[in-house]
Amino acid sequence: MDACVGVVGLGTMGLGIVLVYAQAGFRVLATDSFPAARATARDKLVAVLAPRLAKGALDQATHDAILARITIVEDVPALAPAGLVIEAIIEEIAAKRVLVAALEASLAPDAVIATNTSSLSVASIAAGAKQPERLLGLHFFNPAQVMKLVELVAHPGTAPEALTRARDWTLAAGKVVIDAPDRPGFIVNRCARPFYGEALAMLEEGRSPGEIDAAMQAAGYRIGPLGLIDLIGADINLAATEGLSRAMSGHPRYHVFAALRDQVAEGALGRKSGRGFIHPGEAGPAPTDAARIALRIEATLINEAGWLLAQGGGTRDGIDSALKLGLNFPRGPVEMLAAHGAHAIRATLAALEAAAPNHLKTRYLPAPILEPS
Ligand SMILES: NC(=O)c1ccc[n+]([C@@H]2O[C@H](COP(=O)([O-])OP(=O)(O)OC[C@H]3O[C@@H](n4cnc5c(N)ncnc54)[C@H](O)[C@@H]3O)[C@@H](O)[C@H]2O)c1
Repeated sequence: MDACVGVVGLGTMGLGIVLVYAQAGFRVLATDSFPAARATARDKLVAVLAPRLAKGALDQATHDAILARITIVEDVPALAPAGLVIEAIIEEIAAKRVLVAALEASLAPDAVIATNTSSLSVASIAAGAKQPERLLGLHFFNPAQVMKLVELVAHPGTAPEALTRARDWTLAAGKVVIDAPDRPGFIVNRCARPFYGEALAMLEEGRSPGEIDAAMQAAGYRIGPLGLIDLIGADINLAATEGLSRAMSGHPRYHVFAALRDQVAEGALGRKSGRGFIHPGEAGPAPTDAARIALRIEATLINEAGWLLAQGGGTRDGIDSALKLGLNFPRGPVEMLAAHGAHAIRATLAALEAAAPNHLKTRYLPAPILEPS
């Protein structure tokens, strides 16, 4: 393959994205504004590939060929040969806009510029561009070289040809590309909120973390919501929740639970700090009402997906695939709805809304997808 991909930002995400395309045979040019990040990038890439090489999952010749396709360059103008450039720099709109301007000045007129932003709107990044039509979002998941899903995000002015190139090249790199709306949290980060939020609500009502997680594992989830917060880091989860809550004007569906704030304030961040909701322990046996706990969490997951659909964001299949691939869920919200039936979900939400404390009132109002037909 002769196509060339550019990557800006050689941090956690950028290094993974470099590997995604290099492994698939693309030439990759990558840079970072910090000299130390450029100087250490190759060693970090070698370290990421090392376990696969040691296990025999990757042979030496393939390993060397992957690295030979990657060139770390000094600056943005050196990305000129790239037909698609993905930025994975700091999550600040001003920095991203300055970078987009520099890319526009350096790249071929038909080159596509993609942002890997998690929390900024693609339209807001494109707003300062001279050619906003070539800007779009390619949202990878961490670790990018492992996670199959990429959310492809168009803003109202993105050109179809730009979307086609970004989609085709990313499909060629072995990813599943799902169209996501340019709305806060796109699909996955938004639709995942109730998984954590409803578990935290139950925690505040006095359930133990082990019971909640065991109930979800009994329902087929590889990891429970509180164990997943431990894995991600409570601080990262809090930042994502606060960001979405702000973007959604503080709607109670995106409530930031005190149990999460307290966890961060205590430094019980999960695996990285040695202690979390579950970590270093395990979930334990499922409680007798495990099915009720799982139904409650799935009812809110279904409802959030329903509200996103009602706002014109994504398709039923797209949302299901995105949550299965992005979060390893055993089924997507639309499949959950088919399994439980709309009547059971409406009744569960109605009971939750009736019992909701004042600060959570309206959290459980049902989305149109649940209306009796
Ligand atoms: N970490 C995740 O799980 C994750 C997942 C999906 C998307 N994202 C998004 O990806 C982007 C990068 O996140 P990350 O976690 O890799 O961050 P990071 O801090 O690990 O890496 C950012 C890199 O960008 C470099 N950088 C900063 N400003 C720059 C500039 N102006 N020009 C060039 N390089 C610059 C830094 O030196 C650093 O190496 C952010 O937009 C983030 O929201 C992160």
